[in-house]
Amino acid sequence: MAKFLIKHSSPLKGEIKIGGSKNAVLPVLAASILTEGDCVIQDVPYLSDVLTMEKLLESLGVRVSWDKDAGAVTVSAAGKLRAEASYELVSKMRASFLVMGPLLARLGEVKAPLPGGCAIGSRPVDLHLKGFSAMGADIIQEHGFVRAKARKLKGARVYLDFPSVGATENLMMAAVLAEDQTILENCAVEPEVVDLANFLNSAGADIRGAGTDTIKINGVRELRGTEHAIIPDRIEAGTFMVAAAITRGDITLTNVLGDHLKPVTAKLKEVHLNVMETERGIRVQCSDRKKIVAADVKTLPYPGFPTDMQAQFMSLLTTAEGASIVTETVFENRFMHVGELKRMGADIKIESRSAIVEGVKSLTGAQVKATDLRAGAALVLAAMTASGETEISDIYHIDRGYCQLDEKLNQLGAKIQRVE
Ligand code: EPZ
Repeated sequence: MAKFLIKHSSPLKGEIKIGGSKNAVLPVLAASILTEGDCVIQDVPYLSDVLTMEKLLESLGVRVSWDKDAGAVTVSAAGKLRAEASYELVSKMRASFLVMGPLLARLGEVKAPLPGGCAIGSRPVDLHLKGFSAMGADIIQEHGFVRAKARKLKGARVYLDFPSVGATENLMMAAVLAEDQTILENCAVEPEVVDLANFLNSAGADIRGAGTDTIKINGVRELRGTEHAIIPDRIEAGTFMVAAAITRGDITLTNVLGDHLKPVTAKLKEVHLNVMETERGIRVQCSDRKKIVAADVKTLPYPGFPTDMQAQFMSLLTTAEGASIVTETVFENRFMHVGELKRMGADIKIESRSAIVEGVKSLTGAQVKATDLRAGAALVLAAMTASGETEISDIYHIDRGYCQLDEKLNQLGAKIQRVE
């Protein structure tokens, strides 16, 4: 299994182009099932999760072709599609469950494995299923699979108990071909939800209110093929911003949308980083006069501080001056990185949903393990500031959500060796 060997890194310097958003492209790829026309999707990041979604679509009878140089994917869901998603693929990537809404809307039936839990939590899909049944689907759960059937989905008013990103996306996709109007209330307002709505509207859907907590979808008869460019990945961008901070460097990110980074930018300024919007993008510079200080972080649904940045920011806080409290309110078990950071000398105590991080002078290199995608990224960041060498195993987690994270960081001055 591949590993990273990482040495202490001098301050990162230079410019880095951010790629397309993993959490926007996955639902957009699933949504391409809704039309027989060709969909050309640009700025698709070359990630293992995207390849998994591609395999899933092909297993359903959808044609997917990559133009790697252009970073574009053409999806064609013309012809007969299969109504069953394979256990092997769905268990590999929970986001595969996002094909459920489109298949139900397009075929009137779907059989999908219930996605299991993962390292960060039980990850139920009850809100997805509650919404589908409100729209008239018969739902049967048995043998680890869920089957949904509806001759024709009907518009419904659905109140989400939690502003779930996946449930909002799945139900929005199911509603675009349903009869009448569907109203989703208390829904997720993440930029990735807005990007999906923009994609669907460009294909002829009638969706209003994406980005607010109430989305209205008027069903249409059919969708047509379209072209769409995926928004930049705000979590990859945030990860690089923390990389600049943790190495006390000075880097500029291009292809970023400052609006999507507000909670991360605000928190970095709070710990004394200089963050400036320039004509090239966003510059993150460590001021040589002010030390990086502690700050409290509480993850919340957008536009609160993103849960997907919690682990990376905690790495930064381990060597900040003072004590920080990091509270994870979105997932019930997203502190798997704490044990690994402690092996590197971090001083962290977990009290239920909060971690108390006492800043230490410096971390030391150690053998550690990536437990999930963002925890793995957090360990790469910690390793760059640690003295000595760090070995990170199970880095396949990192490759799921970051395209060449090691190579991009090395371009900025890091010393990361990928050992197969
Ligand atoms: C999406 O996951 C992202 N993944 C996650 O990013 C991200 O952490 C999460 O949204 C929150 O922002 C993709 O977009 C592919 P949720 P999703 O449904 O849709 C509970 C990464 O690192 N819930 O908003 O699965 C759930 O248990 C990944 O890139 C229910 O209880 O997240 C969790 O506690 C990790 N019932 C909370 O809601 C449901 O039916 C948030 O989950 C659905 C969710």
